[in-house]
Amino acid sequence: MTDALSRFSGLDLLATAVVVLDGSMRVLHLNPAAESLFTASDRNVRDHLLGDLFADAGEFGAKLRQTLVEGRGFVDPDLVLARPGQEALHLNCIVTPVESGEAQLLIEFRHIEQQMRIEREAQRITQAEANRELIRNLAHEIKNPLGGLRGSAQLLERELDRADLREYTQVIIKEADRLQVLMDRLLSPHRLPHVTTVNIHEVCERVRSLILAEFPKDIRIQRNYDTSLPELQGDREQLIQVVLNVVRNAAQAMNGKGEIILATRVARQVTLAKTRHKLALELQVIDNGPGIPESIRDKIFYPLVSGREGGSGLGLTLAQNFVQHHHGAIEVESQPGRTCFRIVLPLQ
Ligand SMILES: Nc1ncnc2c1ncn2[C@@H]1O[C@H](COP(=O)(O)OP(=O)(O)OP(=O)(O)O)[C@@H](O)[C@H]1O
Ligand SMILES: [Mg+2]
Repeated sequence: MTDALSRFSGLDLLATAVVVLDGSMRVLHLNPAAESLFTASDRNVRDHLLGDLFADAGEFGAKLRQTLVEGRGFVDPDLVLARPGQEALHLNCIVTPVESGEAQLLIEFRHIEQQMRIEREAQRITQAEANRELIRNLAHEIKNPLGGLRGSAQLLERELDRADLREYTQVIIKEADRLQVLMDRLLSPHRLPHVTTVNIHEVCERVRSLILAEFPKDIRIQRNYDTSLPELQGDREQLIQVVLNVVRNAAQAMNGKGEIILATRVARQVTLAKTRHKLALELQVIDNGPGIPESIRDKIFYPLVSGREGGSGLGLTLAQNFVQHHHGAIEVESQPGRTCFRIVLPLQ
């Protein structure tokens, strides 16, 4: 028995479920992933026939026997198997003939749902990379003429004899500077964040005062802070930009009239980008505006997607980039009358 254990111990590290059979279709080993997939223990099923392990493995068994005879493996992308008395599992399986002592067949199983999840996640990451590439190109294109624009405005300003006209050149210069800063940020999404200790409520308060100054009339911002939240390690400027972009969108969507709630709380045992975190903070930005237009609801984090006249569609892309730099996640739920952005950031 120790022999069997040590012989197959390499398989035990795999996340893929693996079953090893001998030449007469007896189970020699189930690795831990297979034990958990089939809710069976290696010890209990060892030396049993494969047919005892599954309720209806007739056809699958026949294909395995053929593999033993012909020595050629196969892939079954859509196999349905069930343990006696349990629900059927939809599996992707790869069968490989082996010759290692008694072991004759090595079968790898993947749960299709799990596989689809992994693929979706991979697709999402590829998409995010494509986004960043697009943004970098775009930012270069915008950045190039900015220097000329600013320089010309300065030259023009020197020629102006009426002081009140300088107000206009100042607008050009200031806006060019603002764009320059934005483009620099877009161009260096991989720049190392400037990490310090950040208090999320300070970030929220800063955003609150900026938005109240920008929309002085009918925007109300309620706070619902969990003041026991610990501080987090992060880039303060980036986090302000994240929250500002989200809150400004809400204020703009409501046409400067409505209520926004900023709520914080502790979240425990969250999985973010495949990593499990014991402790995280959650910030919700909730507004009672018209909701995200349905036509763009699935795409708002993509660059250049905007439902707003004059919108550049970069605010949320940038916010998502910065949140990802912090190993966090940002997601949204929206319907007319209630839109909620949820930002989750891991705490050390
Ligand atoms: N709280 C919200 N309520 C309704 N629609 C929203 C809300 N937040 C975002 N949106 C929609 O998502 C779109 C994308 O937002 P995003 O911030 O990425 O770009 P933008 O606001 O159009 O431009 P900018 O780059 O200036 O931020 C918005 O144009 C708007 O249509
Ligand atoms: Mg925006």
